[in-house]
Amino acid sequence: MSSDDIKGGNLPDRPTGHSGEVEETGTPSFPDPGLPPHQPRRQDIDEDAAARSERAIAFMFTLSMLATIGFIASFVVIDRTTIVHIWPFGHVNALNFALGLTLGVALFTIGAGAVHWARTLMSGHEIPQERHPIAASPELRQQVLADFAEGAKDSVLGRRKLIRNTMFGALALVPLSGVVLLRDLGPLPEDKLRHTLWGKGKQLINQNTGLPIKPSDVTVGSLVFAVPEGLEEEDHDFLEQIAKAALMIVRLNPDDIKDKRERDWGYEGIVAFSKICTHVGCPISLYESQTHHVLCPCHQSTFDLADGARVIFGPAGHPLPQLRISVNEEGNLQALGDFDEPVGPSFWERG
Ligand code: FES
Repeated sequence: MSSDDIKGGNLPDRPTGHSGEVEETGTPSFPDPGLPPHQPRRQDIDEDAAARSERAIAFMFTLSMLATIGFIASFVVIDRTTIVHIWPFGHVNALNFALGLTLGVALFTIGAGAVHWARTLMSGHEIPQERHPIAASPELRQQVLADFAEGAKDSVLGRRKLIRNTMFGALALVPLSGVVLLRDLGPLPEDKLRHTLWGKGKQLINQNTGLPIKPSDVTVGSLVFAVPEGLEEEDHDFLEQIAKAALMIVRLNPDDIKDKRERDWGYEGIVAFSKICTHVGCPISLYESQTHHVLCPCHQSTFDLADGARVIFGPAGHPLPQLRISVNEEGNLQALGDFDEPVGPSFWERG
C-alpha cells in the first residue's frame, strides 16, 4: 500500500475491527468507506497565509517568554505582604496574583502556539495506523523511524526558523520559574526559633481584653491567655509572633505545686506556661482545674501544670516551657525574661 493510497483514501477493506463487522464467512457486512479525500488548508496553498500563521505562533511563544520574565521580576520586586484591589476579584495578595497570572500566561501561550502550529502549518494529512502485536518487527521499527523523520519534515521545524527559535526560547525559560522559587527555602532561621517577644519587664496582656493582667484577675480554676505587651493583632507579623509567644496563666495553691523551680518562677501560685504544645505545635486550650492538667486537643497530650508541666500522657516529648514572672510597680504581672528554651515542637531535638 503506497502513501498515495493512504492520502487519497484508497484503503483496502480491513478484515476486522473498527471498519466493519465481520460475518462468520469472513466477509465484512458493510464496506470500509476509507478516508475522505484530503482538503488542503489555506496555509497549504497560500504562502502569505502560512507566513501569517508563523508570525502568530512566534508571537505566542514570545509572549510566553515575556510572561516568564514577568514571573521572575514579580517574585523579586513585589513585596509579599502587598494587597491590591483588582476587579472583579476584590482584594488580593499582589505577589500571588502576579505569579499566578504570569505563569498561567507563560504556559497557556506555549500550548496555544503549539496547537496553532499543528493546525495550520504541520501536515494536515490523516494517517491511519493499524493495530499490531506489541512486539514491533524490525521492519516496523524502520517504518516508525521513517515516519518520525517525515513528521519532523512536515513540522517545518528546519524551514521555519522563527518558530523553532522562539519555541526553544519559551521552553528554556519556563523552568526558570521553578528555580527562582527555591529562594523561599532560605535564609536559614538561625536562632529565630529560640526567641520570642517575651523579655525582661514586658507586661502580660490579657488576650481577650487587651489590658495588663493583675494577680487578682487570675482566680483559682480559671485559665487566662496572655500576649506580650506591644503585640497588636494589626501587626503584619502578629501570627508569626503569637505562634511562639502565646502564654497561658493559671493560679494554683502554692502547696499543690510539686516542682520547686515552678513555684519560684511563679508569683503567689500564679504560673505562666507556653500555650504551644511540644508535640507538633497546636495551641493548648483545655484545662481541668481539679487535677491541674491541660490537654492538647490535637493528639491528647496531657501536661501536669502542678508538676512543671510534665507530660503525663500522649505523644509530646517535653514539658511545656515556663515563663518566669513577677509583679511590676503598677501591680501588673510582668515577665522576667524570655523562655529559657525553645517553645513548641522539639525541633532538631533542641540541638
Ligand atoms: S500537637 Fe499536641 S498532642 Fe499533638
